[in-house]
Amino acid sequence: MPVFHSDPQEEPEGAGPGAGGRVLVTGATGLLGRSLCRQLRDDGWNVTATGFRRAPPLMLRCDLTSEEAVHEVVTKNKPDVIVHCAAERRPDVVEHSSEAALNLNVHSTATLAKEAASCGAFFLYISTDYVFDGRNPPYGEDDSPNPLNLYGRSKMEGERETSRHCPDSVILRVPILFGEVERVSESAVTVLWTSILDAGETCSLDHTQQRFPTNVKDVAKVCSNICSRRRQDPSIRGVFHFSGKEQMTKYEMAKSIADAFELPSDHVVPLTEAPPGGASRPQNARLACSRLELLGLSVEPRPFRAAILDCLWPFTPDRRWRQTVFH
Ligand SMILES: NC(=O)c1ccc[n+]([C@@H]2O[C@H](COP(=O)([O-])OP(=O)(O)OC[C@H]3O[C@@H](n4cnc5c(N)ncnc54)[C@H](OP(=O)(O)O)[C@@H]3O)[C@@H](O)[C@H]2O)c1
Repeated sequence: MPVFHSDPQEEPEGAGPGAGGRVLVTGATGLLGRSLCRQLRDDGWNVTATGFRRAPPLMLRCDLTSEEAVHEVVTKNKPDVIVHCAAERRPDVVEHSSEAALNLNVHSTATLAKEAASCGAFFLYISTDYVFDGRNPPYGEDDSPNPLNLYGRSKMEGERETSRHCPDSVILRVPILFGEVERVSESAVTVLWTSILDAGETCSLDHTQQRFPTNVKDVAKVCSNICSRRRQDPSIRGVFHFSGKEQMTKYEMAKSIADAFELPSDHVVPLTEAPPGGASRPQNARLACSRLELLGLSVEPRPFRAAILDCLWPFTPDRRWRQTVFH
């Protein structure tokens, strides 16, 4: 049996814009999915969270690459909304395990979109700024994707499968994410912490590619806003962009993190040539987010420095540091 049922994580109906609505979240064990489930519950949605390898005992465990498993989860839970976060999002892993990654990023998306269409659920697909080549920013919602790597192509194909099977869906593109992590290597932003702490070693970090680090809490609120508004307004459909506003290279992110924690960072040096090896990445895929803003569905992103302090303080060598700084 491909679906391992324990108690679905269903919350009683609460107050809030999502009150009474049933939402199924994929990738609920991941960086964005964890934050999204919390936000949706806070906003009164009845949330069914699904994960895979990391699914804890009280969460639905479902391998999304199994059509049978997906069908069973959707027909059993009858969601009003499906938010599809699960993906292989590491470009170098996608490049090296392309079959498995395409199966998840493209095939599972098609399967879920078909299931959403057949049960009449609103489908919200999380995509990426890596669908763009980064040569001519900023990118509007209607600009043509031209991904540079297989990860970007797989997410673009996921978008196409979404639109093909669920023309009334929403595709939300976001850039590099950070948030409360289980380990610092879980996001490409928080992983910089290890370079900062290792002050005995010179560390060269890319200072050529422009990024817009975006807090998953802000993305979660935007997703919740979209789901709630869609309940009243079926014209909410198509492609949307959301992004943090602070432009930084990896080098600048590391300097900013060190500065926020009052840690030395002279050992962190800028790499001014394109980083060698690995999948190609866009130079600057800045997203223009006007569609979300015009509809009043956006949020003001929390400043990077404040948000990253919250995410990384549990990893400080001495957690009492936080008391010193904040009290
Ligand atoms: N992270 C970023 O910087 C970033 C940037 C732009 C866009 N995005 C997009 O944002 C979305 C969320 O990313 P994230 O960073 O939260 O990802 P993540 O932390 O890597 O989480 C990936 C999720 O996918 C699940 N998953 C993997 N294989 C699965 C399978 N066969 N069946 C079911 N679930 C499976 C994982 O479950 P288990 O761990 O339980 O196996 C996990 O919950 C993705 O669509 C990604 O493309 C991410």
